[in-house]
Amino acid sequence: MSSIDQYAVFGHPINHSLSPEIHTLFAAETGQSIEYSRQDVTPDRFEPALRDFLEQGGKGLNCTVPLKELAYAVADRRSPGAERARAVNTLMRCPDGQLYGDNTDGTGLVRDLLQNLGISLKGRRILLIGAGGASRGVLFPLLQQQPAILVLTNRTLARAERLATEFSDFDSIGVTPLEALKGQTYDIILNATAASLTGELPDLPDNLMADGGVCYDLAYSEKPTAFVQWGIRAGAARSVDGIGMLIEQAADAFELWRGIRPQTAAVIAGYEQRHAHHQAI
Ligand code: ATR
Repeated sequence: MSSIDQYAVFGHPINHSLSPEIHTLFAAETGQSIEYSRQDVTPDRFEPALRDFLEQGGKGLNCTVPLKELAYAVADRRSPGAERARAVNTLMRCPDGQLYGDNTDGTGLVRDLLQNLGISLKGRRILLIGAGGASRGVLFPLLQQQPAILVLTNRTLARAERLATEFSDFDSIGVTPLEALKGQTYDIILNATAASLTGELPDLPDNLMADGGVCYDLAYSEKPTAFVQWGIRAGAARSVDGIGMLIEQAADAFELWRGIRPQTAAVIAGYEQRHAHHQAI
């Protein structure tokens, strides 16, 4: 067993995960001594891999696609946000040996919007595209910000309807078919579909963006995603990808594990510098 506290991210695929780099920067900045590794873990290997990790003294774990529902299931106790999402992206071993599960995806997104981008959600009209795991993970923190409305839309409408019923205690939630979006406008349009990274886009009408509106792709990429490009064409005042959300969800996890909040600005700026470099070459 190592004397340095061990953390890891499990997922499949995991090769391109930026989490080890982000947590290593946080540790340096806060003067914490940790080791953070990545492991390629398929769902059938999740429980044995978790057992091995804990036996070797692992203190905390991030779980990404496709393991968040399994991480929810193994948690002994969970945060209210994880309960609402029915998905866990952060596990912590408690002093009593129990596993505590949290979901920092949605809180990370909200923090990026509010604090880094200066976008208030209260009273705004929000459109959330997609009804899979990514949407499920962010709905509760978004609704807690008290938007005027939060409309879910999805290629398969029935999935959006099912997801919305889980949050029907919030008056602001609604569902609209993609075909019915024509003539509507939104202040903030969030893409939580898996389409963007493969260069695809859901079929969105022109004039969907309110004046001064913002497009946000929960996915991130070194090059602007198809949705970020759509946002620019649609006249969004800002059209950004989810790198800030990734770094903020990591900061929430780090704070849960270590009891100290890392500064994220320099990490985001560092990524954006390299990103600009990638685009320039
Ligand atoms: P994740 O956990 O990443 O959200 P998921 O649960 O498979 O993955 O959900 C993927 C989401 O992206 C869904 O909303 C899916 O729409 P469907 O429910 O109709 O499948 C959406 N999606 C994926 N590819 C898409 C495409 N080419 N066009 C539009 N939506 C797409």
